[in-house]
Amino acid sequence: MILVLGATGKVGRALVPALLDAGARVRALTRDPARARVDPRAEVVAGDLDVPADLPRLVDGVDKVFVLTSGHGRDGVTREAAIAREAARAGVAHLVKLSTTGVHFGQTDPISLAHAESEEAVRQAGPAWTVLRPGTFMDNRLAWRRSVVEFGTVHAPEDDPVSALVHARDIAAVAALVLTTPGHEGATYPLTGDEALTTGQQVEVLAAALGRPLEFVQEPEAAARERMLSFGWPRSAVDGVFDLKRQSAGNEGVVFDTVRTLLGRPALTFADWARENAHLFR
Ligand SMILES: NC(=O)c1ccc[n+]([C@@H]2O[C@H](COP(=O)([O-])OP(=O)(O)OC[C@H]3O[C@@H](n4cnc5c(N)ncnc54)[C@H](OP(=O)(O)O)[C@@H]3O)[C@@H](O)[C@H]2O)c1
Repeated sequence: MILVLGATGKVGRALVPALLDAGARVRALTRDPARARVDPRAEVVAGDLDVPADLPRLVDGVDKVFVLTSGHGRDGVTREAAIAREAARAGVAHLVKLSTTGVHFGQTDPISLAHAESEEAVRQAGPAWTVLRPGTFMDNRLAWRRSVVEFGTVHAPEDDPVSALVHARDIAAVAALVLTTPGHEGATYPLTGDEALTTGQQVEVLAAALGRPLEFVQEPEAAARERMLSFGWPRSAVDGVFDLKRQSAGNEGVVFDTVRTLLGRPALTFADWARENAHLFR
């Protein structure tokens, strides 16, 4: 039995069916089963990683855990360290942790530091471990949705770097491989797409998928911050994102061949993602 944390999120909702297709039994965690849309072949389990009393029942009878939590700071470290300890107590054999390329590059922004600390907690917990370090998700471009739908415009901060965006389904495919085949214990895999695109090129790819032109507006950081705050982001999260942006600027464009090597096929492209998601921008 494989316990999938974050089963309703961007990576988890692709990972659950990939594991089931590979013949694994899956326990999918969500805080709210009534709202969650999870592959019906999985066992859905209700639980909150912030509630210590929930943890023993989540890992009971489990062989492997996919460790993913959301959050931009200490919460994630606390949750991941707690579930790793509980998994070790329950005799779990293998922990697979979703981290970030920021750790690969030694970044000291809060998000990368928190993942570095969680990685260490997973490595020290006792079971075998594998760490997946994806770069920026293609899905982050869903932040463009509202202005594309309403105004046909993409706003992005000035000096946004070229980025080797990665498709969440590729992250999930690698995670499924690591969780269902031997030989990945003790490995750390950075994961990106095969191509690094400027923001302008990404906008062109999206426009092609939509079949209509999009205006690309580069804005100063202050304006970009205001925009995110107006969407309801907490100020600490906005600070974290811009700190990460500054620190990752020189690293975002680095392409790793891990997806291609592990999966034996090219990584999914931003054009693939744009075609699949075009309906969300109409
Ligand atoms: N976006 C990027 O560019 C990027 C790049 C590198 C790494 N990452 C890392 O990727 C991770 C996020 O992955 P994602 O985007 O797939 O997730 P996501 O779409 O943000 O979904 C969050 C998931 O976490 C679950 N969750 C949140 N709080 C929980 C709690 N207290 N107890 C149990 N479950 C909880 C949610 O489940 P329910 O709501 O159903 O309970 C949901 O399944 C983060 O660690 C992030 O740092 C992101």
